[in-house]
Amino acid sequence: MEDARAYEELRVGFTAAVSHELRTPLARLLALLDSASLPGADRDDLLAQAREQVEEMSELIDDVLFLSELESGREVVALGSTPVLPVLEEVRNRLADSSERADVSIRVEASPDVELPLRRRMLQIVVENLAVNSIRYAGPGAALLLAARPGELEVSDDGRGVAEDELPRLFERFYRSDRARASRGTGLGLAIVKHVVASAGGQVEASGGRGRGLRVVCSFPAP
Ligand SMILES: Nc1ncnc2c1ncn2[C@@H]1O[C@H](COP(=O)(O)OP(=O)(O)OP(=O)(O)O)[C@@H](O)[C@H]1O
Ligand SMILES: [Mg+2]
Repeated sequence: MEDARAYEELRVGFTAAVSHELRTPLARLLALLDSASLPGADRDDLLAQAREQVEEMSELIDDVLFLSELESGREVVALGSTPVLPVLEEVRNRLADSSERADVSIRVEASPDVELPLRRRMLQIVVENLAVNSIRYAGPGAALLLAARPGELEVSDDGRGVAEDELPRLFERFYRSDRARASRGTGLGLAIVKHVVASAGGQVEASGGRGRGLRVVCSFPAP
């Protein structure tokens, strides 16, 4: 009974948060469309901005759907084992342009025989979410490390980091550090990472501090 009530509170809170997150881009979209209908408006520019808002909303909806699939157990997360090095390299290549623009260097460190107990797509989701965060938040000149050892995945950077007392909150849905609020994002990335890792029987831990970078380690039980 207690459980049911706690779950209900969580569900209502989640629905409210999703609606809130959708309201902002929707309001912006409406304002952009209003501006576009004014005489002399720079329609191309306004339409490009409107498109961005729509993309932001679809990303949010994809993330929410993915999270709820994880929770209902429909998305099978574990089942299998994936060599990590190729995934780390693939993510590094895919993010090469954006990391260059952000002036964040990426280093990959793993021996070819290390495998982790996740399906390939799930491992990709975890690594990419963590790497994109470093590129977005670490700041120019930072170094990002993607590393794997037996039973462990590490994604760390030496950038801006977050205050130590924020560390435990990072994995909450929709939690974003105040400093991140100006940038695009919904605060679901790390919640998804935690879910995926937990569904494979693993644990996630974040360490670091303001100005001391952020280090995220996912550890998995021995097979
Ligand atoms: N490498 C990092 N350095 C500094 N702060 C970080 C880093 N990674 C995450 N954060 C902080 O943690 C918050 C939560 O991250 P999370 O990935 O869950 O959400 P997001 O990146 O804001 O949005 P989303 O991932 O859903 O697009 C970020 O908003 C940011 O404040
Ligand atoms: Mg993120």
